[in-house]
Amino acid sequence: MTSSIEKAAQRLEQLRAAGAFLPSDVPMPEKFTAAPSPAASATSPASPALESSAFKTQTVPPAAPSSKSVHINLTALAAAGFVTRNAPRSGITDQFRVIKRPLLENASGRGAAAVPHGNLIMVTSSLPGEGKSFTAINLAMSMAMEQNHTVMLVDADVARPSVMQALGLPPAPGLLDLLLDKKLAVSDVLLRTNIDNFTLLPTGLPHPRATELLASDAMVDLLAEMGQRYSDRIIIFDSPPLLLTTEARVLASHMGQIVMVVQAEKTLQSQVRHALSTIEFCPIRFMVLNQARSRGMGAYGYGHGYGYGYGHEQDAVGQRVATPA
Ligand SMILES: Nc1ncnc2c1ncn2[C@@H]1O[C@H](COP(=O)(O)OP(=O)(O)OP(=O)(O)O)[C@@H](O)[C@H]1O
Ligand SMILES: [Mg+2]
Repeated sequence: MTSSIEKAAQRLEQLRAAGAFLPSDVPMPEKFTAAPSPAASATSPASPALESSAFKTQTVPPAAPSSKSVHINLTALAAAGFVTRNAPRSGITDQFRVIKRPLLENASGRGAAAVPHGNLIMVTSSLPGEGKSFTAINLAMSMAMEQNHTVMLVDADVARPSVMQALGLPPAPGLLDLLLDKKLAVSDVLLRTNIDNFTLLPTGLPHPRATELLASDAMVDLLAEMGQRYSDRIIIFDSPPLLLTTEARVLASHMGQIVMVVQAEKTLQSQVRHALSTIEFCPIRFMVLNQARSRGMGAYGYGHGYGYGYGHEQDAVGQRVATPA
């Protein structure tokens, strides 16, 4: 009898053979070469996202263009340290160029056939404040700088939404409103921006059952609809942390790819391991080490002493992340 580990190993082999970029395929900058990531070493059953019947619904008509438009002050955004298309080349721009590449490969081109729902990318972390929103916004901005990609950034951290504020925009109807009102279409609340190929889906109006809604069947239906109507877009979800509540895990089960942000020298090894264990069903998991000191970051030390880099779990846990006392 084939064990679930063997099945997962076979699945990963199939993904690799079909051209998917696995975390262990990402060229590691100096200091980030390590043992293969458990995320890519097949210790988990195949992803429910790969088999989810919610995504097997019939073809739906393409989405209507979104009706509302907002203006993002790109100069202010660049001054706040974010990646923008008209900012001069910077460390953060370079770092996100490396971070986005394998995600884009999986979401389109070679990866399109190999990674089901590879265009659905969730940014999460173990704990609050590790840099999820910062990473999600920068990733989306960096991807939108590529003319051949259209990006939708979804603020799915319904308990602590921050994307709109970070972009200097007022709160607006969005995800929660879609979940509560079946008559609303995504295009009714999706915001076009002054960046042609970049749209925003805000969290929406505050709701006492926000976290419950995020893990509801309505959310599964909405993800299925988005996956079909917007299959040509990269959809990035800024998400809640994995260890505080369970809804981020539910969301993760519908994603094609997961980016887990780890705050260097703060998050405990045990917390990282625990968080990873909650999303082990997703075969495409990338770790981003955030705010590592530049001295220790090798080629990745930039700017104000903070940096980003892809790390395998071995790096993050063994070298970069504080170990428990
Ligand atoms: N690499 C970085 N360089 C500079 N500032 C950063 C970096 N990463 C995060 N920050 C800043 O740290 C703060 C916390 O980051 P962020 O809001 O992205 O965390 P989060 O994980 O989304 O938090 P929450 O769980 O509350 O949603 C923000 O002010 C953000 O701009
Ligand atoms: Mg956040």
